[in-house]
Amino acid sequence: MGVLGVLTAGGDCPGLNAVIRGVVGRATERGSEVVGILDGWEGLVHDRTIPLDRDAVRGILGRGGTFLGTSRMDPYVHAEGLVSCSPTLTKNGIDRLVIIGGDGTLRAAMRLSEEGMPVIGVPKTIDNDIEGTDITFGFSTAVQIATDAIDRLATTAEAHNRVIVVEVMGRTKGWIATHAGIAGGADYILIPEFEYDIDEVAGTLRHRHESGRRYSIVVVAEGIDPPVGQDAVETKKDAFGFDRLGGVGYRVAAAIEERTKFETRVSVLGHIQRGGTPVASDRVLATRLGVAAADLAIDGHTSVMTSVSGTTIEPVALSVATAGIRGVPDHLYRTAATFFG
Ligand code: F6P
Repeated sequence: MGVLGVLTAGGDCPGLNAVIRGVVGRATERGSEVVGILDGWEGLVHDRTIPLDRDAVRGILGRGGTFLGTSRMDPYVHAEGLVSCSPTLTKNGIDRLVIIGGDGTLRAAMRLSEEGMPVIGVPKTIDNDIEGTDITFGFSTAVQIATDAIDRLATTAEAHNRVIVVEVMGRTKGWIATHAGIAGGADYILIPEFEYDIDEVAGTLRHRHESGRRYSIVVVAEGIDPPVGQDAVETKKDAFGFDRLGGVGYRVAAAIEERTKFETRVSVLGHIQRGGTPVASDRVLATRLGVAAADLAIDGHTSVMTSVSGTTIEPVALSVATAGIRGVPDHLYRTAATFFG
């Protein structure tokens, strides 16, 4: 039997270590050697690897981050794809890969498989927006962190008679905002999938306060457009060419305060949503995905990712997973909107 290589690439996500442990546990159980590739694609291009066995992955199940390290390098942007990875693959005898990453990483993984390298993907993002799977690991943890934050912000907002805008992650889709907003009882939720009218938002909050409520919580996804009349937020690009987001909540707060005259504060949750220990359901999901990925790799599958379909884990073509970004459905947003104001 050959050697299975495993790497984590792109932004980190609670549950990555549990996936790695799942891959190593099942692969070693089935008699396959496993090599861990350090710092994402960088380790594959620059031959930074470590041998992995059951002992190497003890104690990591509940830890945040990724003990293999990660990077924002793209092997097709910053290197020559398979040609650049081949020396490391050959030297370590790696004949199949498990690549754990988000949409940019899965796209690179698909290209590697098209060049002839057997690859299994494991979809990873707290944003929960990868096509072809019902849910991604790390999402539940991020939602719990954001919900806890909303609960805390609500009591201080109430004490001071304030509006607080809570900005959560969600580059192009508003899954975290919608779920945390529902769970935290948000008074308005703004997400990229649905256009909003800031006058209507302000009117809803005004009506709420006139009806005796002392405070309001508005949850916004970082990827929404700023309100009409407010400047765009300046952004830098990351190595995948994506905008580094953060700050639109300040624009929303300014527009609300201007219209309502209510004191409006902002809390940008940022990377706190990605750090720390995964909740139990993410540890279970990540373990199942890792085990399934090892099985698929050892059974000779390629160019698929492990996907959640109802209660089962199934292979889905990487071409399906990378064809688009999965948004919040109308019915879910409408459920949240029932409680606005
Ligand atoms: O894609 C996941 C994500 O959490 C986005 O919601 C966010 O915009 C991005 O990562 C930030 O990542 P980084 O800080 O690593 O650039």
